[in-house]
Amino acid sequence: MADVSEAVGCAVVTGASSGIGAASARALVAHGWRVVGLARREDKLAAMADGLGQAFSYRVCDMTDEASTQAAVDEIMAAGPVKALVNCAGRAIGKDSVATSKLDDWRAMYELNVLGTLRITQKLLPALEQDEGSVLIVSSTAGIEPYEGGGGYCASKSAERVMARILRLELIGKPVRVIDIAPGMVHTDEFSVKRFAGDRSKAQAVYAGVPDPLTAADVADCVTWALDQPDTVNIDQIVVRPRAEGSYTKVYRR
Ligand SMILES: NC(=O)c1ccc[n+]([C@@H]2O[C@H](COP(=O)([O-])OP(=O)(O)OC[C@H]3O[C@@H](n4cnc5c(N)ncnc54)[C@H](OP(=O)(O)O)[C@@H]3O)[C@@H](O)[C@H]2O)c1
Repeated sequence: MADVSEAVGCAVVTGASSGIGAASARALVAHGWRVVGLARREDKLAAMADGLGQAFSYRVCDMTDEASTQAAVDEIMAAGPVKALVNCAGRAIGKDSVATSKLDDWRAMYELNVLGTLRITQKLLPALEQDEGSVLIVSSTAGIEPYEGGGGYCASKSAERVMARILRLELIGKPVRVIDIAPGMVHTDEFSVKRFAGDRSKAQAVYAGVPDPLTAADVADCVTWALDQPDTVNIDQIVVRPRAEGSYTKVYRR
């Protein structure tokens, strides 16, 4: 167990209740960070805290809600310096075409992926600047190569990548790094199940026959590696995919 008094620093990890966020929180703790996990499901966060001990604490937070996010940020900033913000909270909804997709689905993806990320990033930037910190955004290859049926999700992930790039330019000269990690296919327990509104057969079909999709831990390795570089070294972008995936539409299946 990491010695909290000698932690590398405090990392705030959004979406820490499952998937890539949970794996990133675990990996950061293993690398000596003190982690504050944010998500809406307290039972999941509490289970993480049981397993990780003192180095992990959490705040229940709905990142689409201004008051909820502000309250979490206020508590975090009152507790001390913040060295990293790892933005993992995000979602995809459906695979409908642009012509037929619902405005509400696009709105919900934008609310979390784009505006939720923007909201917490804006709020924590002053603290990050004070501690030579880092903003890390887990975007997606969906933000690089649009695919049919991915309209709202690809657009939101593209927006996150643009946000990271522009923030990096706007902060030049200030002691803050901005890192964009764009994973391809990652087999996490919940992401595709939620995308297809609980339809497990549709979710399983995403990964069917693919020899080794990335795991959440693979992406967490990228997160810790990028953050553990010296403060003056900015890993601008990492694009990481399973070997079997050349692009979203070029995937080897057994
Ligand atoms: N899986 C993939 O193939 C893949 C590939 C590339 C990029 N990504 C990106 O990686 C990130 C994590 O994906 P994942 O696979 O780990 O998905 P996941 O397991 O579904 O995790 C999503 C996380 O977001 C949190 N969240 C959802 N709505 C929230 C809200 N309103 N406020 C606060 N937190 C909220 C969820 O927690 P609560 O429900 O408890 O709030 C959960 O912890 C996403 O941004 C996703 O777009 C995933």
